[in-house]
Amino acid sequence: MIIDVLTLFPEMFTGPFASSMIGRARERGLVEISLVNIRDYAPGKHRTVDDAPYGGGSGMVMQPGPIWQALDSLRARGRAETVVLLCPQGVRFDQELARALANTPTLALICGHYEGVDERVRETVDLEVSVGDFVVTGGEIPAMLVVDAVCRLIPGVLGGPGGAEDDSFASGLLEYPQYTRPRNFRGLEVPEVLLSGHHQRIARWRRQEALVRTLVRRPELIDRAQLEPEDREVLRALARRLQALDLDS
Ligand SMILES: C[S@@+](CC[C@H](N)C(=O)[O-])C[C@H]1O[C@@H](n2cnc3c(N)ncnc32)[C@H](O)[C@@H]1O
Repeated sequence: MIIDVLTLFPEMFTGPFASSMIGRARERGLVEISLVNIRDYAPGKHRTVDDAPYGGGSGMVMQPGPIWQALDSLRARGRAETVVLLCPQGVRFDQELARALANTPTLALICGHYEGVDERVRETVDLEVSVGDFVVTGGEIPAMLVVDAVCRLIPGVLGGPGGAEDDSFASGLLEYPQYTRPRNFRGLEVPEVLLSGHHQRIARWRRQEALVRTLVRRPELIDRAQLEPEDREVLRALARRLQALDLDS
C-alpha cells in the first residue's frame, strides 16, 4: 500500500512514522509512506499557500491551487486513487473506515491548517474524515491517527498469530481484559481461568468478558455486532440474572 500525506509541516511526522509499528512496516516494505510538502507546489518566490478569507473574518485559508497541483502530480504517477481530506466536518473515523481505507492500494491524506482549506478543495477529494467532535490545529495529528489505524490492518504488519482480530471493534465488540505478569499485583489476582491452560475455557471467558464489557460501556455496539448463538445465550443469561435482582429493596 502507498500512502501520500499532503502537509505544510512534514517535519511533524518524523518521529511517529519512523518508530514502532509504522517504522517497522515501512522498513519491511509493507507500506510506503511519502510526505508531500504542499508548499513545493505553491507558485512564486515566497511559495504562498494561504490567504485571507473572502468576505472577511479571522485567520487564513489554504488556497486550492497548491493542493490540486500536488494531487495532480500524484495522480499522474498512478497514486492517490482515494483522496481523504482531514476535516472536523467529515464522517467520523472508525474501525470500519480504517478497514475500508486499508484496502485502498494508493491513498492520499490532505492535512488542512489555519482556518482550513478553500471550499473548492472538496471538489477533488473522495471523502472528508473527522477524528472526533473537536477541533485541533491542523490535520497532521488526525492524519497520524488514520495512518496508524490503517497500517496495523495491512496483512503482515502486526505479525504473530491473531494480529488485529481480537482488538476492540474488530468483531464489533470491545476487547476482553488483558493480564500479564505478575500473577498477583498488590493483592490483585489474575483470573484463575487464564492460568488454567484450557484454551476453550479461556476463549469462552474472553468472549463473555468482551460481551459484558461492551454491553456496559458501549451498549449501542451490541446491536451492530455479529453475534453467535452462544453470544446470545450469554446475553440472555445476563438479562435473566438482572431481572432476578431485586433492585428496589
Ligand atoms: C483549525 S482546523 C479548521 C477548522 C475549521 N475552521 C472548522 O471550523 O471546521 C485546521 C485543520 O485541522 C484539521 N482538523 C481539525 N480538527 C479536526 C478533526 N476533528 N478531524 C480531522 N481533522 C481536523 C483539518 O485538516 C482542518 O482543516
